[in-house]
Amino acid sequence: MSTERIDHLIPKHVKSTFIQQYAREPLLVRSPGRINLIGEHTDYNNGFVLPAAVSQSIYFAAAESGDDDVCSLLALDLDERFDFKLTALKPMPPDSWQNYILGVAAEIIKSGRTLRGFNMVFSGNVPLGAGMSSSAALECGTGVALNELFGLHIPKMEMVKMAQQAEHNYAGVKCGVMDQFASMMGKKDQVLLLDCQDLTYRHFSFELGEYSLLLCNSNVSHSLASSEYNVRRQQCETGVAILKKKFQPIRSLRDAAVGQLNEVRDQMEEVIYRRCKYIIEENERVHLFIDALVNQDLAWAGQLLKTAQEAMRYEYEITCPEIDFLADFANSHPAIIGARMMGGGFGGCTLNIVKTTAKENFVSELVQEYKRKFSKQLTPIEVVISNGTEVIEI
Ligand code: GLA
Repeated sequence: MSTERIDHLIPKHVKSTFIQQYAREPLLVRSPGRINLIGEHTDYNNGFVLPAAVSQSIYFAAAESGDDDVCSLLALDLDERFDFKLTALKPMPPDSWQNYILGVAAEIIKSGRTLRGFNMVFSGNVPLGAGMSSSAALECGTGVALNELFGLHIPKMEMVKMAQQAEHNYAGVKCGVMDQFASMMGKKDQVLLLDCQDLTYRHFSFELGEYSLLLCNSNVSHSLASSEYNVRRQQCETGVAILKKKFQPIRSLRDAAVGQLNEVRDQMEEVIYRRCKYIIEENERVHLFIDALVNQDLAWAGQLLKTAQEAMRYEYEITCPEIDFLADFANSHPAIIGARMMGGGFGGCTLNIVKTTAKENFVSELVQEYKRKFSKQLTPIEVVISNGTEVIEI
């Protein structure tokens, strides 16, 4: 399960392919996926999240094309090449990988900066559709590569926002800022407590002693994930509009308390109530989780993961049968402190805090049970908390 060997092979392959194709020495960039310990769907509600960048990454080789306008992209893992012109940038159909790159180029141009033609080759090991933000890795890697190639000096925080805007405007998902922030700003062995209202953040060193983090990839990714995502966002906005009428200072669910929500409960549909309750309490769970970490109270941290899982299942309704099974199995297993689904929802991974010495047995039991129940393969994923997007040399 170690990613060490792969981490070394991929950038070499990306670099040598680039040199073969374009006969130039490229700039190399590594851009990671992310995990999120807790705080799901709170980001677009101006709330709190606790993500970290991981070792699974996309690696880029890039250089100027020598033309002012003409660019080419080579997605090695898909064996697809795409040529385009900077003067004719436009979104591709939804779910096209090109959108994450074109969208970033478009945001840079929109900001008044000048790009010239470039060629880029990339490949990685961030699993797709696993809730580990391969799209943010693609966006942030593109941003850093173009920033370096053209000496643009874009501040990191501006790049984070550009990457998020690329997802809104080109990929059509009205995501929050967590993924791009974590991918860009991550630090080795540290988790980030991010306040999505003003983008202030703190790094916390993350030490689990005899426990470790383990992701279990359900290998399920539902196509409704992005449409349901936008629906959840809309439902939260509906809730805020109702709350605002009675409690003027409330600008987002981050400002609201469950008591206030209860006072306007009869003015909203039941589903809106449940969505808002989930977000308000999930924000509280982020702070409680930090307290648990600071006090080294892992049992409490685990309990918060379990509660978050139940809330995602019944209140925010973003899980699916496979995920519920994986989380239930883990949460009743003696080797597990706590487990919950991670990311946008409707599939992807569960995040588990597991006793390191019991990990192997746990995984083999779960793989077997999952296969028996759903005839699907479960993929365990090791977590190594790593630096954010960076220029590398090999
Ligand atoms: C996706 C989005 C993020 C965040 C998570 C859920 O990963 O891109 O902005 O909303 O879902 O926490």
